[in-house]
Amino acid sequence: MYSARNLSRYACALLMGLLLLFSVNNSVFAQDGGQDDGATAAADPAVLEHGKKLFNQKCKSCHAVTAEVVVGPGLKGILDRRDEAWLIKWIRNSQAVIASGDEYAVKIYEQYNKTQMQSFPELSDDDIRAILAYSVDAGNAVVATTTPGENNDKTASGSGDSALAGYVPIILGVLAFVLVLILAVLFLLITILTRYLKQQEQSGKLDESDQEVLNQKFNILAVFQSKIFIGGVAVVFVLVVAKAVLDGLIGIGIQQGYAPTQPIAFSHKLHAGELEIDCEYCHTGVRKGKSATIPAANTCMNCHNAIKRESPEIKKIYAAIENDKPIEWVRIHNLPDFAYFNHAQHVEVGGLECQNCHGEIEQMEVVQQRSTLTMGWCIDCHRETVVKAEGNAYYDRLLETHKANSKKPMRVEDIGGLECAKCHY
Ligand code: HEC
Ligand code: HEC
Ligand code: HEC
Ligand code: HEC
Ligand code: HEC
Ligand code: HEC
Repeated sequence: MYSARNLSRYACALLMGLLLLFSVNNSVFAQDGGQDDGATAAADPAVLEHGKKLFNQKCKSCHAVTAEVVVGPGLKGILDRRDEAWLIKWIRNSQAVIASGDEYAVKIYEQYNKTQMQSFPELSDDDIRAILAYSVDAGNAVVATTTPGENNDKTASGSGDSALAGYVPIILGVLAFVLVLILAVLFLLITILTRYLKQQEQSGKLDESDQEVLNQKFNILAVFQSKIFIGGVAVVFVLVVAKAVLDGLIGIGIQQGYAPTQPIAFSHKLHAGELEIDCEYCHTGVRKGKSATIPAANTCMNCHNAIKRESPEIKKIYAAIENDKPIEWVRIHNLPDFAYFNHAQHVEVGGLECQNCHGEIEQMEVVQQRSTLTMGWCIDCHRETVVKAEGNAYYDRLLETHKANSKKPMRVEDIGGLECAKCHY
């Protein structure tokens, strides 16, 4: 009898602890999600599967589910940018939306150098909803390897655990439910037993200790004061803090010096150094868009369908093409999702060399990350670097105003290079 009451106290303390963990965890994950798309409402797996199939068939050649530009814009956050009705019209016939003079449509059309997105009159509203649901879902759970080619998935830092994170609240919810059930049964038992004891009491069969138990009242305050409850809260607290600290450490993610072994022993020292192949021959996106892009196996074949055919390393390239499986190069440089970096802005507009940021790649047998890629690193360079404004009509106005106000040369910080919103969406 006594132990039954104690048991219920244990169970109650545990339940409280779990509920606490549940709510804390939920808020932590809600925060994680906050950086991602708002519209992550749990979608039906069948719908996601359907969406994935359509996306891969019809959209993947031009769009990534991340923020990466392939031919068209990355679809990350698309449901935050545009509403569903607009998207359905656009995807079915984008040219019609542009022709109607829709301001946003005209703007992106021009921004993407009037590249026409093809029309998809065959897609139903539900097909399109499925594609959008899939792209939002997949964008939030990007894998940690870079696939080569134009279709270059951006690695989300910490994305590995975000898939798992989705399950944690569910598991905790189930646990909490089971505990409530146990509690209910225990209370039921107590009621029955107490009634039984009362009957015994009436017939005078109770000894002293039984009497004592019967007179005790269940005390909720005692639960909160109990060592178990306090201990439980302490453990939960320590766990939450530990998780936050770990996340923080991973989030900082300084990977200077990172030089992973690649699936094929490709050497920049040989190709970019000795053979003097232009960086842009392989990294074709570097002057055009956000991402430099990693070359597809076909680029290698331009030479290797004839050169070193018998080499085991080169045979890996053939295998990739035959099996239609992209070479899984390990991504080295990787900013967190909340920071925006654009190669074209720096190489094409800013006139910087790759080596300013990546070091002497043409002497590296294995690519190594030379810069910290921290915010301080970006900011320091923006404070120091003078904008190459001469001969660039775009900057004439800015330069004039700057000269009127200052004797110093115009640096990146003077054109807004320290504004938070330039680097953070
Ligand atoms: C041939 C390449 C191509 C294909 C295939 C393609 N798109 Fe596009 N898409 C573009 C381009 C380019 C743009 C930018 C606007 C423009 O130039 O018309 C764009 C724009 C968009 C936008 C607006 C993006 C934004 O940031 O506002 C959405 C949404 C979109 N496409 C969805 C899709 C979907 C869904 C599919 C598959 C059913 C698809 N696209 C297939 C090239 C393509
Ligand atoms: C023949 C094709 C080729 C040429 C030329 C080439 N690269 Fe690469 N580059 C690759 C491939 C393939 C990878 C991925 C494998 C690796 O990291 O070695 C890569 C990776 C990189 C990376 C690391 C990407 C990451 O994951 O963060 C950088 C930086 C880079 N190259 C810069 C350069 C620079 C700078 C040049 C010119 C000096 C250059 N590359 C020339 C093919 C090339
Ligand atoms: C412009 C021509 C060209 C391109 C493009 C090119 N390579 Fe090479 N590659 C060469 C030459 C030339 C050699 C040196 C052959 C020799 O040692 O005789 C070589 C050697 C290699 C070797 C060493 C092979 C061995 O066993 O010694 C590897 C591995 C390799 N390339 C991988 C790649 C990969 C991966 C790509 C695509 C990302 C690529 N190459 C693109 C020209 C090229
Ligand atoms: C101002 C600094 C800077 C310059 C200049 C620069 N890069 Fe990068 N590069 C970065 C940063 C930062 C990243 C990581 C981007 C990310 O994770 O979004 C990166 C990533 C890359 C990657 C791998 C991922 C991707 O974007 O596809 C390659 C390849 C690359 N750079 C090649 C080059 C080449 C080639 C040049 C010269 C033509 C160059 N970079 C010039 C800063 C720079
Ligand atoms: C080696 C120097 C250097 C580094 C490092 C560097 N930048 Fe820049 N950045 C520049 C220059 C130069 C420009 C000006 C380009 C131009 O003329 O518009 C610029 C411009 C920009 C702009 C546009 C600013 C505006 O007002 O239009 C953004 C955004 C930006 N950089 C982001 C970054 C981020 C994010 C990083 C770090 C991951 C970074 N940069 C690292 C040199 C650098
Ligand atoms: C030139 C680009 C640039 C500008 C301007 C910039 N940031 Fe950042 N910021 C970054 C990059 C890149 C990172 C990611 C660094 C990392 O992973 O260590 C970052 C990371 C952060 C973080 C995460 C904490 C950390 O240090 O990792 C916060 C918070 C932040 N920035 C806030 C701001 C605020 C507030 C401003 C305006 C006062 C600002 N940033 C301006 C590029 C920039």
